[in-house]
Amino acid sequence: MNPIKVGLLGVGTVGGGTFAVLKRNQAEIARRAGRDIVVSMIADRDLDKAHSLADSNIQVTDDAFAVVTNPDIDIVVELIGGVTIAKDLILKAIENNKHVVTANKALLALHGTEIFAAAREKGVIVAFEAAVAGGIPIIKALREGLTANRIEWIAGIINGTANFILSEMREKGQSFETVLEQAKLLGYAEADPTFDIEGIDAAHKITIMSAIAFGIPVQFDKVYVEGITQLTGDDIRYAEDLGYRIKLLGITKRTDKGIELRVHPTLIPAQRLIANVEGVMNAVVVKGDAVGATLYYGAGAGAEPTGSSVVADLVDVTRMQTADPMHRVPSLAFQPDLLSSTPVISMEEVETAYYLRLRVVDKPGVLADISRILANSDISINAMVQKEPAVDEDNVDIIMLTHLTIEKRINEAIASIEMLPVVTGHVMRIRLEELDNE
Ligand code: HSE
Repeated sequence: MNPIKVGLLGVGTVGGGTFAVLKRNQAEIARRAGRDIVVSMIADRDLDKAHSLADSNIQVTDDAFAVVTNPDIDIVVELIGGVTIAKDLILKAIENNKHVVTANKALLALHGTEIFAAAREKGVIVAFEAAVAGGIPIIKALREGLTANRIEWIAGIINGTANFILSEMREKGQSFETVLEQAKLLGYAEADPTFDIEGIDAAHKITIMSAIAFGIPVQFDKVYVEGITQLTGDDIRYAEDLGYRIKLLGITKRTDKGIELRVHPTLIPAQRLIANVEGVMNAVVVKGDAVGATLYYGAGAGAEPTGSSVVADLVDVTRMQTADPMHRVPSLAFQPDLLSSTPVISMEEVETAYYLRLRVVDKPGVLADISRILANSDISINAMVQKEPAVDEDNVDIIMLTHLTIEKRINEAIASIEMLPVVTGHVMRIRLEELDNE
């Protein structure tokens, strides 16, 4: 049988990793796919780099459009990133009846609906395992392995850079700024790390997982996003004293009111397996009604781990390309004409527990005032600690953990607490999730 011909757009970190894995494991991969999968064309602006990978059988160009319109190419692998040229290239590839494999989470989170519709119309596949959690086959697990289940919730550490920063802050007691610089030096964080530390990268990924888990359209505009830039070493230490770790989580949950879709720092009990995922590693917990809680762990970035996911998609597409499109696994796991219109609820409606840190003047009646405000908002206190004042300080930190409440209520309570003259500065509020198997 003729080999499947791949056009590779972009030979940066992931492109290089994909190329290396495909080459090294060629025979093994062919035994699995039933035919050879070969890169026959590479496009990259850095022609020297592309030439350094390619042997004489591979055509090299700096014109990516020449790849997506080439009639000899069966599958286009888009590893350029970004949401402008990459989108044009993918739509052009689809128009030219090519299957597409992409690692582009931002593009799918923002324009997935349009891209999947175009692919459906042409009867081609758009595969994207590498877009979420790098080398962890979480898309495969959600879409196929858990297909018997009604998914209840997903919670994931899906940004390695943010997890590295939080791990180092906790383990070494270093400040956010110090660890961020280290992450840049180690090549984890981008020169502009905004997407990592502000939660945007995680938001792209949880948006995609939410769509697959619940059979809803991808809706990046509905995700609540809060990053880790406001977290202090004090909060990480206080949380630990209470038996919790703080992680940047992407969370999506099915509730009676609709779908929750959110990214924010979260206290989770230290004994949960996911609380012990440290450094740049990723992990995703998926709770299904039949299987219970399942955990997926591994490298969330890097050349060969992400290349592993790209090549898995290449094998999948190779196996499925001759199948009637009706009999393929749908892009978003559910039949496209049966997607649900269940709304994504606003953050104000979300129900969760909270960690509150208040800096207050240490004098009689302060706690009574604060408790009264919480009681008036129907918020129940679960635990409370007052920290020893630092030498020469009149102010003390009070840490409170609340029972479940609605975000709207905690917002109102915090606004009232901040107006008390005895409260200094802003109240620090971090959401808390038990992530138990209930
Ligand atoms: N920048 C991401 C991270 C990897 O730090 O996890 C690619 O999604």
